[in-house]
Amino acid sequence: MADDQQLEQELAALLEQEWFEPPEGFRARARITDLSEHEAAERDPVGWWERQAKELDWFEPWTTALDDSEPPFYRWFSGGKLNVSHNCLDRHVAAGLGERVAFHWHGEEGEKRAITYAQLLADVQRCANALKARGIGAGDVVGIYLPMIPEVIVAMLACTRIGAPHNVVFGGFSAESVAERMEFSNASALITVDGARRKGKTAAVKSTVDATMGDLSHLETILVVRHTGEACEMREGRDLWWHDALQAADPDCPAEPLDAEHPLFILYSSGSTAKPKGIQHTTGGYLTGAAWTFRNVFDVRPESDVFWCTADVGWITGHSYIVYGPLANGATSVMFEGAPDYPEKDVWWRLCQEYGVTIFYTAPTAIRTCMKWGAEHPQRHDLSSLRLLGTVGEPINPKAWAWYWRVVGGGRCPVVDTWWQTETGQIMITTLPGAQAAKPGSAGTPLPGIAAEVVDNDGREVQRDVQGLLTLRHPWPGMLRTLYKERDRYLSGYWERFGAPTYFVGDASRQDHDGYFWVIGRVDDVINVSGHRMSTAEVESAIVSHPKVAEAAVIGQSDEDTGQSICAYVTLRGDLEGDQELEVELREHVARRIGKLARPRRIIWASELPKTRSGKIMRRLLQDVAEGRELGDVTTLRDPDVMAQLSRSAEARGDDG
Ligand code: WTA
Repeated sequence: MADDQQLEQELAALLEQEWFEPPEGFRARARITDLSEHEAAERDPVGWWERQAKELDWFEPWTTALDDSEPPFYRWFSGGKLNVSHNCLDRHVAAGLGERVAFHWHGEEGEKRAITYAQLLADVQRCANALKARGIGAGDVVGIYLPMIPEVIVAMLACTRIGAPHNVVFGGFSAESVAERMEFSNASALITVDGARRKGKTAAVKSTVDATMGDLSHLETILVVRHTGEACEMREGRDLWWHDALQAADPDCPAEPLDAEHPLFILYSSGSTAKPKGIQHTTGGYLTGAAWTFRNVFDVRPESDVFWCTADVGWITGHSYIVYGPLANGATSVMFEGAPDYPEKDVWWRLCQEYGVTIFYTAPTAIRTCMKWGAEHPQRHDLSSLRLLGTVGEPINPKAWAWYWRVVGGGRCPVVDTWWQTETGQIMITTLPGAQAAKPGSAGTPLPGIAAEVVDNDGREVQRDVQGLLTLRHPWPGMLRTLYKERDRYLSGYWERFGAPTYFVGDASRQDHDGYFWVIGRVDDVINVSGHRMSTAEVESAIVSHPKVAEAAVIGQSDEDTGQSICAYVTLRGDLEGDQELEVELREHVARRIGKLARPRRIIWASELPKTRSGKIMRRLLQDVAEGRELGDVTTLRDPDVMAQLSRSAEARGDDG
């Protein structure tokens, strides 16, 4: 107990401190220790990005660095040809690094596999040939729905080798979400698994996927990795076991030279309508951005560092900082299949010690959870190998920042708070850890080659310390190129608001007197649950698809643990009355439609929803009720009495977690 008290005091003292300079021991050997890269990039952003692109291996050089003749459809490194898997594997193996470990994979039950660059290259070539044997080639979309097992990396790289854009769906999404995403992207193949493991249990995957794939005629191939031994049916002519297919495949598959602008992947993310957005990234620009930011934001020395990003590969963080950034740099990473509290709440820290992790990257929500579990878990392990810590996904509250710095980093490790999005492809705003001091709660400043500005509703830059809308002012290589098959939505979602080249981020932010950005949160109907983007409209449409529900409105309620949590106001059909049983049923229903992460934390029964005279639901008021605040202006409501009923209902059913 005395220790706890002492820690509390130390944290309180840290919270008094505004700036955290790079610790001397760190700065002494950091890659970048001043702002000269920022300055060089400011003088000539395109030329600066060209220099970074030249760090990659190109089969053919580009003719135009930035083609902005058709804004906002920007093209980077036009005319250039390269291959992502070649850059991530072949060139390292050719440089004699084949025996370097790419991934220390750690399975849920403690299984270990060290996978070298040479092994990855061999598997990737076979997998690429297995896909080719099924008629899959450049431009064909391949869905990937796999847990955190090495095969997911092999599958992604095999796609890049032959130019088949991958469409990875996070393993926590439901089979129905997978089917929907396969349909939207017109996928020709899906790579999945017999079953997945979670905290000592297994769950069938392939058989649940089968039940939803019925009429997807374009989906001609399903490759199935054997993982848990779960029984599954294999449909003749469509389904193949991964290991059979790889074994039968030719071991040599040359990397296809692809245009810099060839689509590399699609990743569906939540927008402000119920339909997820197919965010599309391309080969040359994305890899340039992921590679540079990985090397320099995390100050990586590939020959000696061990990097661990705890995200799932199914999110952009996993794409850029588990797969492409680390591999493009020939780095060694830890890849962990399991949950942070299985078998014990100290498993992350045990693995940090076991693998000598030097750089650790996670989300604020995870830090808050660890904080709740107690400092004794990290303190039980030797974390002296750590030299840099990072966070991503949501603003970090200063208390969690201080805990991370002190308890995990031992006061020795800079903390980089990295702001970016699925759309940006790469980290955009942060501090370069050897060059810039951190301010807990602020992400920092735009990286070299990136220009950000906070503006008012009319697009005029606001004064320092004033909150406004975050924008990005000129194109960067790693930016999304479009939304898959939704060109108009790309234009209206990101560019119409202020006009190209000003990209509308969708976050509120302010820039302080030192030029540091403080990101506040989304300004659209997207909520951020544990750093995961969820669309209120998507959850609403899932709830409304339940036969007993007439109407639903979903809001993000601020939550100590998860940043925001999902709160749903539900109006039932006819005279139906809401009860606990129906609450459970609705949660399950949402889990089936979207995934467990979309289950409302709280359901409030509403005989009616507050609407304006024109019928628009007033979410602001719903937010006030959920968070127990005094109600804002209700005069525009069609029926102001609705609010009294809602407040009673919200009080009657507290948050049951
Ligand atoms: C939020 C995740 C504050 C933000 C890489 C953004 C953050 C959305 C930070 C993108 C951060 C991400 N500080 N907010 N360091 N990082 N966000 O597409 O609202 O899943 O727009 O990408 O997360 O979420 P996405």
